[in-house]
Amino acid sequence: MKQFAVIGNPIAHSKSPLIHQTFAKQLNIELSYELLESAPDKFKQTVDNFFANGGTGLNVTTPFKNDAYLYASQVSSHSKIAEAANTLYIDGDTFKADTTDGVGLVTDLKFNNVDLKDKRILVLGAGGAAKGAILALVEQNPKQIVIANRTKQKAEQIVSAINSSKLLASGLEKIDGVFDVVINSTSCSITDDVPEMDVSCFNKISVCYDMSYKPYQTSFNKFVLDNSHPDVKAIDGLGMLVEQAAESFLIWHGIRPDTSQIRTLLRKGG
Ligand code: ATR
Repeated sequence: MKQFAVIGNPIAHSKSPLIHQTFAKQLNIELSYELLESAPDKFKQTVDNFFANGGTGLNVTTPFKNDAYLYASQVSSHSKIAEAANTLYIDGDTFKADTTDGVGLVTDLKFNNVDLKDKRILVLGAGGAAKGAILALVEQNPKQIVIANRTKQKAEQIVSAINSSKLLASGLEKIDGVFDVVINSTSCSITDDVPEMDVSCFNKISVCYDMSYKPYQTSFNKFVLDNSHPDVKAIDGLGMLVEQAAESFLIWHGIRPDTSQIRTLLRKGG
C-alpha cells in the first residue's frame, strides 16, 4: 500500500488525511495517509526517514514549505516563484516539489463561477500565501493584478520575480485602481483581525475571496461586506483547501477526484 503523509508543526489540526482518504475511497485506491510532526530543525531527517521507509508522497504545511522547496532536486514553475512547496514526492530517483495552492485557489474560484480572464484583481498581502498563488492568477489572463501589502517592498519583490506587465505593487494606505475581485492572502483573518487599508478599492468589486476559512464569516469578508455594496459575493478558503489537495492527489495518482463530497463534509464541520 502506498504511503502518504502531511508534515508540519503543529499538525494535529490538519484535515489533509480526511480529505485524501475520502478521495481514495471514492476512487477505490488503497493508501495510507498519516499526520507527520517534525521538530522545527529536523525536517530533512524526518523526510529522509519517510522516503527511506517506503513513503511515496508528502504534503507540506507550516513551517516547512520553504524547506520542502529546498529539499527537492526538481521543482515546478509555481514552486520556484513561491520558493515553497506543499507537495513533495519521489519519481524514480528524483525528489520533485510542486505547490498546488494557486491552482487550488483558481479552481475554487471557477467552482464558484468566478472567471478571472480580463478581470482586475487586487491581492492583499505579499507573504507566503500570496507568493504561492500569484503565478496561477497570472496564468488566468486577467487584465491587471495589483499586489498591495503593508510592507510595500515585499509586494515589489513578487512583482519583480514575475515577468508580467499586468502586475503592479502597492502599499495599503492608498490603492489606486478599480477592481472586480479582491483576494485576501494576509494572515489577518486567522486572528479575526482586518488590515488597516484604503477601503475605496472595494467600491466596484463583485467578489471577495478570503484564503482563510472559519466556521463563521471570516473577519476579512465581513470587513469587505461592511465597506462595499450588498451584491458582493463573499467566498472563504475552504474550497481552496480541498482543491489544492485534489491537485496533489492528481500529481500522485494521475486522476483528479471529484471534490463535492468532501466539500459538503467539511462545511458540516467534518
Ligand atoms: P503566510 O504564509 O500566511 O502568507 P506570512 O508569510 O507571514 O504568512 O505573511 C503574512 C502576510 O499578512 C504579510 O503580507 C503581512 O504583511 P507584512 O508583509 O507587511 O508583514 C500580512 N499581514 C499580517 N498581519 C497584517 C495586518 N494586521 N495588517 C496588514 N497586513 C497584515
